[in-house]
Amino acid sequence: MVWPLPSRPKYSPLPGQDAPAIAKKLNLAARLRRNRKAEWSRRLVRETALSADDLIWPVFLCEGEKTRELVASMPGVERLTIDLAVRAAVEAAELKIPALALFPLTPQHLRNEAASEALNSENLVCRAIRAIKKDVPGVGLIADVALDPYTSHGHDGILRGDKVLNDETVFVLAEQALNQARAGADVIAPSDMMDGRVGAIRAALDKENFEDVQILSYAAKYASAFYGPFREAIGTGAILCGDKRTYQMDPANSNEALQEVAQDIDEGADIVMVKPGLPYLDIVFRIKDRFEVPVFAYQVSGEYSMIMAAGINGWIDGDNAMMESLTAFKRAGADAVLTYFAPRAAKILREMA
Ligand code: PBG
Repeated sequence: MVWPLPSRPKYSPLPGQDAPAIAKKLNLAARLRRNRKAEWSRRLVRETALSADDLIWPVFLCEGEKTRELVASMPGVERLTIDLAVRAAVEAAELKIPALALFPLTPQHLRNEAASEALNSENLVCRAIRAIKKDVPGVGLIADVALDPYTSHGHDGILRGDKVLNDETVFVLAEQALNQARAGADVIAPSDMMDGRVGAIRAALDKENFEDVQILSYAAKYASAFYGPFREAIGTGAILCGDKRTYQMDPANSNEALQEVAQDIDEGADIVMVKPGLPYLDIVFRIKDRFEVPVFAYQVSGEYSMIMAAGINGWIDGDNAMMESLTAFKRAGADAVLTYFAPRAAKILREMA
């Protein structure tokens, strides 16, 4: 492993208790352990390396000043007011983390059926984007496009009865993307899973001369139980009605992920994303193999919380499990990982350098 595994004391056998000499040796041409015999050799044959360049830090925003709010289900993660989010961006720059992904906790009274706050140029995300870009212009800012932080029912789209409408939603998403691009977002990341939204967003951006704004499409996003803590963080956990299975993908499907990706690339996605992460590394691998485009993975909130909870309880070594999981993303073919571990992992990587 790249990072220091906890080193256990060496075994010292009692006199006379050493392993017995074996008379007969196996006649093996290949002994794969040879390359693993020492750290210098393991370093030479290592196939993937994780670096801070591979990390994107998702940051939760809340209203107010100089305040951090704990997210109970995500130990170590806090919602930050804009002034502290600017500080987080400074820290990201110091740690060489290339980009932040921003997610707002919208005050309850601003949520409605039409998600109109998503289009408000003074909403929390837009103000945060402007503040961070002003002070820390070199850190990339990824703005999430989906209506769930803004709807009164917690769905990612506009609802009629219990149906999440596709085309009506796409129209609003394109406006939301424009609103964020005008505020200075570098990357627009649609996480809603409506059909046709990438093309609509690309057209809307280009029409206003935002042709340099990238689209990071959550192309293969599954209807997952691992999003639980995130929903607490952005305040949709308690209000979400029903589930998201009519738009997010069935965890049983893999070919469908390739179709989703092909469609998004056709419509102009610059980067495609798989979400959740670790349980879906086969999907990351297939997409990278098939399309050879930049592929990101999202190590989502539930994945983070599982590792943290087990680590806090002393059931696993949390830091090593974190680094191992992030390395696994790279091995599977991900070019970058959105992870709540980003600052923690980047600090470990800096110490190792
Ligand atoms: C919704 C969205 C979700 C996440 C990011 N954007 C959750 C959902 O679909 O309900 C989850 C991220 C995480 O769990 O860390 N637009």
